[in-house]
Amino acid sequence: MFLRTKKTAPLIKVLVFDWRKKNPVSDTKNRVCPVERAGTLDNKFRRWIQNPGKILGPYIKEGMTVLDFGCGPGFFSIDIAQLVGESGQVIACDLQEGMLQKLRSKIHGTELEKRIILHQCQQTRIGFSGNVDFILAFYMIHEIPNQKTFFSEICALLKPHGQVLIVEPPFHVSKNAFEETIKTALDYGFVAIERPKVLFSKAVILQKL
Ligand SMILES: C[S@@+](CC[C@H](N)C(=O)[O-])C[C@H]1O[C@@H](n2cnc3c(N)ncnc32)[C@H](O)[C@@H]1O
Repeated sequence: MFLRTKKTAPLIKVLVFDWRKKNPVSDTKNRVCPVERAGTLDNKFRRWIQNPGKILGPYIKEGMTVLDFGCGPGFFSIDIAQLVGESGQVIACDLQEGMLQKLRSKIHGTELEKRIILHQCQQTRIGFSGNVDFILAFYMIHEIPNQKTFFSEICALLKPHGQVLIVEPPFHVSKNAFEETIKTALDYGFVAIERPKVLFSKAVILQKL
């Protein structure tokens, strides 16, 4: 474990914090990361520990359509937009308008504005139709109330053999809970093809059959 300093404190919060603080869009079981914590998700220190380009580079190629589900302030969305290039598209989707607003202001007036579609979803419904090649769900699955509905919805959204990268935080998602999530995915037409190494995290690549 590393030392808690001014620089490392934000990432430690992301890794261990269970968002116990009251949030209007949380119920008691599935606590949602509040917008005022967005800074802990989007900073240079995290980029150093969890570099989006390095994590996603092996899976995301130019021209792809990618859904960044539970995008938060867009820590991954911007790098995804660079990986898919001008011919690709990113759907940055979040439950909270405040998170989307943070991403909106970061890309405002840049060339990425055309490549990133912002979509506000509901807690139990993505409400988006389309054909996507790849889905990222980073540190968010444990916040959704019904994983079965989630896997059935994303299965319909993905192209055949499309992939999903699920990454969960190390402490408040147990090994058993993570394995349960994978088991649920298998029931909904996915196969687990890889367990990538993501620092301080549990991760799996699922592929639609
Ligand atoms: C811990 S943050 C992670 C954000 C981002 N993926 C990252 O790693 O920087 C979880 C995000 O998921 C969003 N979220 C939670 N439940 C959701 C749901 N049911 N549908 C869509 N987004 C959701 C929250 O609003 C929050 O922005």
